Amino acid sequence: MTAELDAVVRARTDALAKAAAASTAGELAAVETEVLGRQSAIVELRRSLGRLEPEVRKAVGQAVNEAMGAIGDAVAARRRELDAADRAVRLEAERLDLTEFAPRRRRGHLHPFTAAWERLEDVFVGMGFEVAEGPEIETEWFNFGALNFPEGHPARESQDSLWVDWGAPGSTLLRTHTSPVQVRTMLAHEPPIYVVCPGRVFRQDTPDATHMPVFHQIEGLVIDRGISLGDLAGTLDSFVKAFFGGEFSSRLRPSYFPFTEPSAEFDVQRPDGSWLELGGCGMVHPNVLRAGGIDPEQWSGFAFGFGIDRFALTRHGVDDLREFWSGDSRFLSQF
Ligand code: PHE
Repeated sequence: MTAELDAVVRARTDALAKAAAASTAGELAAVETEVLGRQSAIVELRRSLGRLEPEVRKAVGQAVNEAMGAIGDAVAARRRELDAADRAVRLEAERLDLTEFAPRRRRGHLHPFTAAWERLEDVFVGMGFEVAEGPEIETEWFNFGALNFPEGHPARESQDSLWVDWGAPGSTLLRTHTSPVQVRTMLAHEPPIYVVCPGRVFRQDTPDATHMPVFHQIEGLVIDRGISLGDLAGTLDSFVKAFFGGEFSSRLRPSYFPFTEPSAEFDVQRPDGSWLELGGCGMVHPNVLRAGGIDPEQWSGFAFGFGIDRFALTRHGVDDLREFWSGDSRFLSQF
């Protein structure tokens, strides 16, 4: 009897080892035929049961049945393992690598001035403004005349214009502010008008920490019926809260611009209580409305203008404007 039981144990051990060693589904199918098929050792043993004495047959028969069950389980378990591995390989092969085409190098980004410009535009567009742009080379009329700068008025000098050698002397210049776009917009569109005009402006200035001969402004212009100074203050305050956050507030301080009456400086208060001067604003002067072909009896409006570069400076805590112009990628790549 021990000889038969030994044979069963050997057949079982051998079958389990072969099933475990199969490394592909195909190999496993062959192993299955070999260890459980009609020619297999265990099936041979089952066939030979008839030749055994009845009392031996019972024990060996039981061992054969257990062995066949165990071999069947082992084959099934190995099949599940191989299927899972197969599936993993197939999924890996079919995986869509969405980063495949991403550049390996560090990606570039917008210049901090451009980023500030775009964020400002976004906030104003969110408040219902449209974006208008105008030329960087302007006529004296659009830059000064239409904006109510009197002939020979010192304010013209205060803007330190860069004149362009074109047409009559003193007729053409690099715009000193974005305000000429107000006049262009009024001439091109009937009110109501709600626009912001971002752009590059130019003044004769020696570069230092807070001045550059080229800088960026964003101008706002609203013309509608019954627009008041309260609307100006409210609009600017909503802008400040939308752009900087609810913990910021704003104030107006009396000032003077030829193209607005009354005029004001516009400051923003940071949560720590300190003030940041942002720019100028005021109610559009009736002479400017007339220059823009708009009847001051029917329409009124306000305008504001502030420097964009200063936003980037404040936002990033940089204290020298010139750094932003350095073109040094070691500096610019920090932002
Ligand atoms: N254009 C003015 C400047 O450059 C700013 C400003 C715009 C003031 C609109 C009032 C209204 O200083």
